[in-house]
Amino acid sequence: MTKSDPSSAPHADDKDDQVVSQYAWKADEYDARWAFYIEATVRETLRRTPLKSGQSLLDVGCGTGALLRALSKTHPDAKLTGIDPTREMLSLAGDRLPERVILKHGRAEDLPCEDKSFDVALSCNMFHYLREPMRALREFSRVLKPGGALVLTDWCHDYLACKLCHIYLSCFDPAHFTVYGTADCRELLTEAGFRDVEVERYKINWLWGMMTAKALSPA
Ligand SMILES: C[S@@+](CC[C@H](N)C(=O)[O-])C[C@H]1O[C@@H](n2cnc3c(N)ncnc32)[C@H](O)[C@@H]1O
Repeated sequence: MTKSDPSSAPHADDKDDQVVSQYAWKADEYDARWAFYIEATVRETLRRTPLKSGQSLLDVGCGTGALLRALSKTHPDAKLTGIDPTREMLSLAGDRLPERVILKHGRAEDLPCEDKSFDVALSCNMFHYLREPMRALREFSRVLKPGGALVLTDWCHDYLACKLCHIYLSCFDPAHFTVYGTADCRELLTEAGFRDVEVERYKINWLWGMMTAKALSPA
């Protein structure tokens, strides 16, 4: 397997996308600036990811590839794919990941993947950016094999720090969209047809609260 070319044709939405513009601008400093946060959220996500030997996994919004890097060491025989709409983030991921990890330019709302092609689909620190979360969840469901596992890690609105951050970002950051709580997350996944939905919330330090949702795709 080889990496795809992150400089292939641009997505039609790119030029209008505030999130992509921000990450394109911040890509070079992303890993150093958010080192603690990336390390903690990748660790918590992987702890809850049911990937078995030889299985396939899709990381949507893979960014600079921290989670795929960790998985490529712990699961050398897994078939790993990362997708991200920000070419600058994807290019850094390409520099850091082994050749066997496939990287594709694309978005959660329109995944460039075959139906029923992954055992596990996950997303870490990305879901709150999606303007059309239900469309993305239907895409996750489409690309998962029947009974495949979905794992989503994101900020959690149940915590005061995230509530305050949401209010601040809503006023000052045009890329910001929303922050979900555990109940919203459970409701969205259930509405999208996922089953055995579990949402667990936790803190990664004294202040910041996250949640990880786990669910199975419709059989
Ligand atoms: C906070 S970074 C997280 C990167 C990585 N998952 C991590 O935890 O370090 C958010 C990532 O989501 C990507 N992203 C933004 N909008 C997206 C979309 N619609 N579909 C998929 N990824 C998206 C951004 O380009 C960025 O790389």
